[in-house]
Order: sequence, then C-alpha cells, then structure tokens
Amino acid sequence: MSDKAILEINGEKHELPLVKGTENELAIDIKSLRSSTGGVITIDPGYKNTGSCESAITFLNGEKGILRYRGYSIEELAEKADFLEVAYLLIFGELPTEQQLDKFHSDIKSHALVDEDVKKILDAFPKAAHPMGVLSSLTSALTAFNPSSVDVSSEEDMYNAIVRILGKFPVLVAWTMRKKQGLPLEYGDDSLGYVENVLKMMFKNPNNPYVQNPILVDALNKLLILHADHEQNCSTSTVRITGSSHAGLFVSLSAGISALWGPLHGGANQAVLEMLEAIKADGGDTKKYMAKAKDKEDPFRLMGFGHRVYKNFDPRARIIKKAADEVLGDLGIDDPVLDIAKGLEKEALEDQYFVDRKLYPNVDFYSGIIYRAMGIPVEMFTVMFALGRLPGWIAQWREMRMKKEPIGRPRQLYVGETYRPFKPLSKR
Ligand code: SDX
Repeated sequence: MSDKAILEINGEKHELPLVKGTENELAIDIKSLRSSTGGVITIDPGYKNTGSCESAITFLNGEKGILRYRGYSIEELAEKADFLEVAYLLIFGELPTEQQLDKFHSDIKSHALVDEDVKKILDAFPKAAHPMGVLSSLTSALTAFNPSSVDVSSEEDMYNAIVRILGKFPVLVAWTMRKKQGLPLEYGDDSLGYVENVLKMMFKNPNNPYVQNPILVDALNKLLILHADHEQNCSTSTVRITGSSHAGLFVSLSAGISALWGPLHGGANQAVLEMLEAIKADGGDTKKYMAKAKDKEDPFRLMGFGHRVYKNFDPRARIIKKAADEVLGDLGIDDPVLDIAKGLEKEALEDQYFVDRKLYPNVDFYSGIIYRAMGIPVEMFTVMFALGRLPGWIAQWREMRMKKEPIGRPRQLYVGETYRPFKPLSKR
C-alpha cells in the first residue's frame, strides 16, 4: 500500500505523505500543502474531515460504536474501574498501581481547599445565574489564587497544577450547586473516596450527618467515567487550542467549560430533560415532537440524538440506559419521563428520517434521568458532565504541551470585498 497521496492541481501533481495510526486509520499529512502548491489550503467547516492532532489518549470508531481510553474499553472501565483510576489512566497513560493511586489521591486531597476569598466571587453571582457560567468564572479565577499553576515548564509544575485542579474543581462544582439552592457551602472530607467526597459536598444537610448511598456512589462513578474523555470534541479542542498559546491550565479548562455549555454539546443533557418534560406536559405526544424534529422550518432538534462521529449507537448511551433502569429500580423511583424517553427512542429508531441520517441516542439522552433520580437539579446536569470530562481535558492539554505542539491558528478562504479605495463621507 502506498504511503503517499497524489493531489493534482491545474495539471500539476503534488505528493503528500499518508500517515497511519495504530488502529489503521489513514490521514493525509498536509503540513507541506501550502508551501508546495503556492498557497493552496483545505477548507472544512466544523472540521468534519480534518484531524487537529495525533493523540494516544482516546480511540473511538463511530461506525462500529467503539470507545476506548488508552486501549481499555469503556464497557470494562465503567464496570470495573473507579473514576480516579480512570483519571490517572487518561492523564498518565497507564492504570495506576495501588501505591500510585494512593499517592495521586493523597496529593489531590492536599489541594482540596479553595481560598476562602473565592466565596466572595461566588457571592457576587445572582442565584439565577446558570451554574455553567459560574463554574467557568470560578475555574478561571482559581488562576489568581494559584499563580504557580500557570507556567508549567516542568513535569513537576505540570503534576502540581493537575492535582491542584483535581482537588479544587469538585469543591467549585458543589459550591456552585449549593449557592443556587441557598445552602451553606460544604467542605470535603479527606477520609472519603473521590466520588463519595463529591456527593458529600453536594448533598450534606448541615443539620445531619451525611450517609453515603452506595447506589448513588456507583451511579455517579459510572457516569463520570463515561464522560471522562471523547477525543477531539468541541470543548476538548477548545481546551487544546487555548493551551496552545501557553495560557495556563485553569483558564484553558474554563474555556472548555464555556464550550461544553452549548446545547449542541454538553448542554444537551439539560435540553433533553426539558424536552422530555415538555412532551410529558403535552400529554406524552411524542409524534408531535418527532414531526417538529424533522421539519426543516422548525429549529427544534430531538435533543440527545445524533452525533458528529457516532453513526451507530453511542456505546455510552447503551451503558447509561441500562444504568438508568437499575438506579431508578434500586431507588424505587417510577419516572414517567424514562418511559417517554424509551418510547421516543423506539420511534426514532424506526423512523426513516432518523435511520437515513444515522441518528441514534447519544451520551446525553439518558444521563439526565439518572442525575434527576440522584436529586441533582437540571441546571447542574452539564456541570456534572464537566466534572466527568475534567480528566480528559487535562490529559489532552498535557499531551499537547508535552509534545510542544505549535499555537493553533487555522487559515481561511477570504470571500469578502477585493481592494477598494476609501470613500469620503460626502460621497457615500
Ligand atoms: C455531545 O463530539 C463529541 O464527541 C461530543 C460528545 C462528547 O462526549 O464530547 O459526544 C458530547 O456533545 C453529544 C451531542 C449532544 N448534542 C445533542 O444531542 C444535540 C442534538 N444533536 C445535534 O444537534 C447534532 O446531531 C450534533 C450537533 C450532535 C451533530 O451535528 P452534525 O454532526 O454537525 O450533524 P448535522 O447538524 O450536519 O446533521 C446532519 C443531518 C441534518 O439534516 P439534513 O440537513 O442532512 O437534512 O441530521 C439532522 C440535521 O438536521 N440532525 C437532526 C439531529 N441531529 C442531526 N435532526 C433532528 N434532530 C437531531 N438531533
């Protein structure tokens, strides 16, 4: 098989290297394209056909519905691993030994306090503020309180910045929720596991001791693992390109949180629940909403359906759908919205419009049903997505900086006015 691609432009042939990944994917290396063709570039709105980098972190195959972190299948990790193990795997490339995991967790706990002055920033937000906007702001503000985490010129600096944000981010997540609920802010408990500690900070009632519910611990652990990374999605690409200017880790993450907020991306999990609630309020009339989703004149989309890469079932959706049944069953909750979701899924999978476009349920379609069963407010759903995606964003940022990748600066094709002389006001 040739290791070259031949491009012919105006009768002139140009050879471009073909590069192959470890999963036998092929890419045309166009690093020399512009210089070797006298300025010709490629154009690909939304980067549907364009790779931004070589990465060894996550592999997914959209046609086959495969998702692996550092070679381990998402199915096995969701079933057998805990979130902190998966965070270590994504960031450092290997599953940790018991000693490595203990040290990692201990280093994270040593940075799990947030400067009390951050509360003054939190207090300044109105209760009506969307938690994603609050979280993005507080994450960026952490830079001011941890200036040493900006310049990561050594592996040690990088490690210290990583354990700092893994320790402080869950506190910001919990504080963001409790601020909205008008509850006193809770601190962590170093005797707890990472996920248990998140639940305690989010849900502890100040007047009672917090009793862990293993069903909720297991559900959140699984959900965070399933959200932990997803190669070069919109928010991860934002984290990478922000970090490529050598902006600090925390502000790069803050940019990623803002990108994730969009309803076409991580904001979809909130939009799914709002859509299902609207259908329920409308008497469960799923056919009306299916028709709206197919009507080109109607901006409505079936939230939680479709994916840029998965043209088959999102493997995470399969796992979350099963978990939704289990969690609601274990908690003894009968949520009619789950039945509406299943009905909608069945209809969509049999509808030609969705079949033709290979639109399947994605990670966001069922996750909100579990978050709601756990007592998490709907506006916090995307914050929970960010908590899960944190190690993936960190891993991708670290990979980009360790490889000393160049600053991200795409080209464009100019389609505006050609040169024209200035026109004085009197002549316009
Ligand atoms: C996430 O990239 C990642 O990896 C993201 C993510 C991650 O882990 O980081 O997996 C998380 O963001 C999941 C996606 C969550 N978003 C939603 O559920 C919002 C609803 N879905 C869509 O808006 C859409 O499917 C996207 C944004 C997810 C993907 O959009 P694409 O790849 O740009 O596809 P497209 O918009 O070009 O759509 C192709 C066709 C169009 O119809 P035609 O013009 O060909 O007739 O499919 C239609 C679209 O109108 N279509 C939908 C639809 N999604 C696509 N029609 C109705 N309902 C939908 N949900």
